[in-house]
Amino acid sequence: MPLDNITNLTGGSLSNIAPDDPAYKQVQRRVLELTGIDLDQYKRPQMLRRLDSILARCHLANLAALASELKPGSEMLKEFMERFTINVSECFRDRPRFEALQREIIPNLLKRNPGLRIWSAGCSYGAEPYSLAIILRELGATRAQIVASDIDPKILDAARAGESFTGNDFRNLPRELAAKYFTPISDGHFRAADSLRPLITFRQHNLLKPAPAESFDLVLCRNVTIYFTEEAKDQVTERLVATLRPGGVLFIGETETIHRPNRFGLTLRSTSFYERAA
Ligand SMILES: C[S@@+](CC[C@H](N)C(=O)[O-])C[C@H]1O[C@@H](n2cnc3c(N)ncnc32)[C@H](O)[C@@H]1O
Repeated sequence: MPLDNITNLTGGSLSNIAPDDPAYKQVQRRVLELTGIDLDQYKRPQMLRRLDSILARCHLANLAALASELKPGSEMLKEFMERFTINVSECFRDRPRFEALQREIIPNLLKRNPGLRIWSAGCSYGAEPYSLAIILRELGATRAQIVASDIDPKILDAARAGESFTGNDFRNLPRELAAKYFTPISDGHFRAADSLRPLITFRQHNLLKPAPAESFDLVLCRNVTIYFTEEAKDQVTERLVATLRPGGVLFIGETETIHRPNRFGLTLRSTSFYERAA
């Protein structure tokens, strides 16, 4: 049976598609080759829903059509990355935790290492690393550095430019900090202050690949692994912990938990903050 017919048997929805469906396998291989994303490491129902929405928005009849459009450097590939990766974020997302970061966690880490190194993994358009940079500036931590990474090169360009902020980003950011560190530009957008930029280095990184051979005092991986299978999530946690210095802190998202953190050599310190054994 031709690939098109097999995929069309799903009746427009991919929810019941077999893991070994030839057109699905073809898309999976193309995506892996071109982006390093292994679809099998993402939770299947959500991943299929996202593929469904990509087909609908790009007016593609089926997965075979998607596979043939996915080519190096193509517009379709950019579209795919943009729609497959979910870029929702905001400054001080989960404000009480960012306040804890500013009040206790970062000051304590700075006491041990004034040259503090922070990794914001899955940084999207930059709301998270710029929030960290604001905290560092407010604390006068002039020697601290932030590495911010994401898998999506287009969103990283936006993060580097630091101009993708909208009013939504400031819902949780104290007013005086929003006024001090952001300037309105055009179309309801805001630009991050130049004083924040030297603190952040942006780079592309796929969390499903080995972590950089570097050490950090604080690692943020928030609202990224919620889309991964349990197995992939554990592998990512293991890799993130390996980059943490003893006594370093892993900061995860509001709706996330690490089950049995001692498996990874972590101890829960307070909501969303885990410490690596010293
Ligand atoms: C929902 S945003 C979270 C942004 C920020 N951490 C926050 O909590 O507000 C998820 C980000 O993870 C990135 N992402 C998805 N899969 C990834 C992967 N395998 N490796 C690195 N980043 C990934 C997406 O491109 C997206 O920018």
